[in-house]
Amino acid sequence: MKGLVLAGGSGTRLRPFTYSQPKHLLPVGGKAIIDYGIEALAAAGIRELGVVVGMETDGPLRQHLADGSRYGVDIDYVFQPQPRGLAHAVLCAEEYLAGEPFFLFLGDNLLQDPLGEMVREFIRTERGSVIALKEVPNPSDYGVAQLDEQGRVVRLVEKPAHPPSALAVVGAYAFGPEIMDACKRVRPSNRGELEITDAIQSLIDDGRPVLPHRLRGWWKDTGKAEHLLEANECVLDELRGMAEGETVDCQLSGAVHVAPGARLEKCVVHGPVVVAKGAHAQGSHLGPYVSLGPEAQVVDSRVLHSILMDGAQASQVGALTHSILGRRSRAVGKGSTRTVSLLLGDDGHVQFE
Ligand code: DAU
Repeated sequence: MKGLVLAGGSGTRLRPFTYSQPKHLLPVGGKAIIDYGIEALAAAGIRELGVVVGMETDGPLRQHLADGSRYGVDIDYVFQPQPRGLAHAVLCAEEYLAGEPFFLFLGDNLLQDPLGEMVREFIRTERGSVIALKEVPNPSDYGVAQLDEQGRVVRLVEKPAHPPSALAVVGAYAFGPEIMDACKRVRPSNRGELEITDAIQSLIDDGRPVLPHRLRGWWKDTGKAEHLLEANECVLDELRGMAEGETVDCQLSGAVHVAPGARLEKCVVHGPVVVAKGAHAQGSHLGPYVSLGPEAQVVDSRVLHSILMDGAQASQVGALTHSILGRRSRAVGKGSTRTVSLLLGDDGHVQFE
């Protein structure tokens, strides 16, 4: 079975971070979002992957994922000229998929459950599809599934104002080749996109079984900045600690991962915290739930529940919480004792007393 990972689109809801890089490459828990999806597919035994890229994501994703060998998979790229919807992205991959069944994964989704069980359920269903579902408090933000008494999916609606249930459609689906014809029948939705939910509805209308796979663990669609911080926490909760990098005069508790080449000096660190190679913290309190990217620096500050991307700096900031500092951005507090929450885009700079 092949995998198809969708990573086109424009990520406008994650601005300012997506002005300068695709949302799929934003870091959570020390890795790019898309790394988790690729690793999950590889762990489920899916080793031939097509990655759908668009105008904005093509170059950076090819550079990051390359041929997939560092994940133990083979990656081919499929170009989608315009982000015309998920069903359109699948149609762009028709030649790549060559009539085979495939696992569709949305490259901005993060989920805790392994994907292998869904693959096995798909193999057991003949002529059927399997879609992942998760109960959520805000179903109107997603595709929503309605089940009958036997637990079969009978209706799917995309971002309904009046959701028929609390079961959101998660970005993980196993399809047979019949989905391709169903995608061809879809007409643009109210938001002008060819929706995969409408294609699946058309399979249901044709009498094809669509089986729900209820997720047990957490699921994050990293559409907005607050989702990135939530995803960072979910991923870090699974961190198992080890300090391989240099720690000098530090108190460490909980899971603390310090990459080789990183340095912590006179710091109090409450895990989970991940510190990437080349990052440096001094005289600071870190954690819980902090990801420091490569070459990030924290000096005389308290940082918690935050992501500092590559080369970001926080200096003399009283307390920085629920914050995302973009690449090479700088937050300078001049000894402030205030607690601040910042979203700073790449190369941004903020200074306060
Ligand atoms: O995250 C789950 C939700 O994903 C489902 O509940 C919805 O039913 C499904 O339609 C989808 O909704 P979103 O509005 O969140 O999709 P988004 O536009 O964020 O795109 C999801 C991924 O697919 C993302 O990695 C970008 C990529 N994409 C998107 C479009 C519109 C493409 O590759 N091509 C596209 O044309």
